[in-house]
Amino acid sequence: MRISISPSSGLSGSIIVPGDKSISHRVVMMSALADGVSRLQNWLPAGDCHATLNAMRTLGVHIDFTAKNETQADLVVRGVGLHGLKAPMHPLGCWGSGTTMRLLAGILAGQPFESTLDGHEGLRRRPMLRVATPLQKMGATVKTTEGRPPLTIKGGNLTGIDYTMPIASGQVKSAILLAGLFAAGETVVRQPGPARDHTENMLRAQGAPIVSTGNTIRLTPPTQALAPLDAAIPGDFSSAAFPLVAALLVPGSRVTIQGVNMNPTRTGLLEVLQAMQADVQILNETEEMGEPLADMVAQTGPLRSAMVKGNLVVRMIDEFPILAVAATQAAGTTTVRDAAELRLKETDRIKATVEELRKMGAHLIPHPDGFEVHGPTRLKGGVVQSHGDHRLAMALAVAGLLADGLTIVEDADVIADSYPGFVTMLSRLGAEVVLS
Ligand code: S3P
Repeated sequence: MRISISPSSGLSGSIIVPGDKSISHRVVMMSALADGVSRLQNWLPAGDCHATLNAMRTLGVHIDFTAKNETQADLVVRGVGLHGLKAPMHPLGCWGSGTTMRLLAGILAGQPFESTLDGHEGLRRRPMLRVATPLQKMGATVKTTEGRPPLTIKGGNLTGIDYTMPIASGQVKSAILLAGLFAAGETVVRQPGPARDHTENMLRAQGAPIVSTGNTIRLTPPTQALAPLDAAIPGDFSSAAFPLVAALLVPGSRVTIQGVNMNPTRTGLLEVLQAMQADVQILNETEEMGEPLADMVAQTGPLRSAMVKGNLVVRMIDEFPILAVAATQAAGTTTVRDAAELRLKETDRIKATVEELRKMGAHLIPHPDGFEVHGPTRLKGGVVQSHGDHRLAMALAVAGLLADGLTIVEDADVIADSYPGFVTMLSRLGAEVVLS
């Protein structure tokens, strides 16, 4: 499937972005480990999250799924408790989802049976030693295929460890903490920077003894059952990033995005955009599931360049393709450093972002750990490629709204990995986007 995007003369309206992807994965896994029934609204029915849902069903968890519309679903998860998962009859398919594979590896490391985790071609290229190594240190047998999927895990009899993560990663941290639920003794994770903390927030809400002090997290194995969850999942900041940047760049736009998760471990892009002098107002601040929520109102205005490096990188790790698009319209040179992790995402996001935006006339220079964008540039339409990466596909679609002439994003089905309803959302804001 491809999408064709015409230049836009202004976006306007109010939208609700779909539920947070990271939280949607976690609620399925963690309510499965609770004693009792969890009821979850606004769950994200995206490809990646369905991979998690299917895997948990294969592990013997009963889950009712009710689609509300293209972007929202309700779930009822009948928790089996910490020791109620069943050995799977076949390998667990994680499709293209790194979060499914890495977080499930943590849970499976605690189970007294053998299981295999596999995925599609793109996921099979991604590094897994980052989870295998700490889980092995805890006592699990984890076999990788030269450091990559498939993974075969034989768990049980874990001991807590004190682990200093070489990279700041929400997935690695979560895998260790989830394994820590099954370990004897305390598990300590020390992170080099503040990676997303949804697992910690959720474990706390479920009554697990977990304490975070700065970048150190300590989990004591729970002596009581994990409590079920009853909540609506907050809107995904990483999905909101696309209409947010579109509103800032398409001349004459004003867009309201409602109910967005403003967890500071996720909103690095907002800080960068504000430093670029973006006109974004934050209104109606509330809380849901221990996560801060707000509405964002964005309108078009001139941007200046920014420098992104250090700890900020991990707090906006999924937002670099869309930041690059914003930077093509900013006056000056925007520089991204300390972001070599981008080369290990759904695709090499440094290489692919530079390659595709150059096709549209943008001036980008790659670096081993980032890139530079020289702006402002008037973009031109053309045929561009998603490289099988949902976030790159959506960033290119936003670029298409600004470009002269028609832009075609090829291999755009992948958008549904994280944002089903993306095209409907853009159309609702007044954009001309056609699926074919
Ligand atoms: C995620 C963590 C990040 C992010 C991914 C989701 C999570 O990955 O890129 O989209 O849900 O924990 P890393 O942990 O590899 O940085």
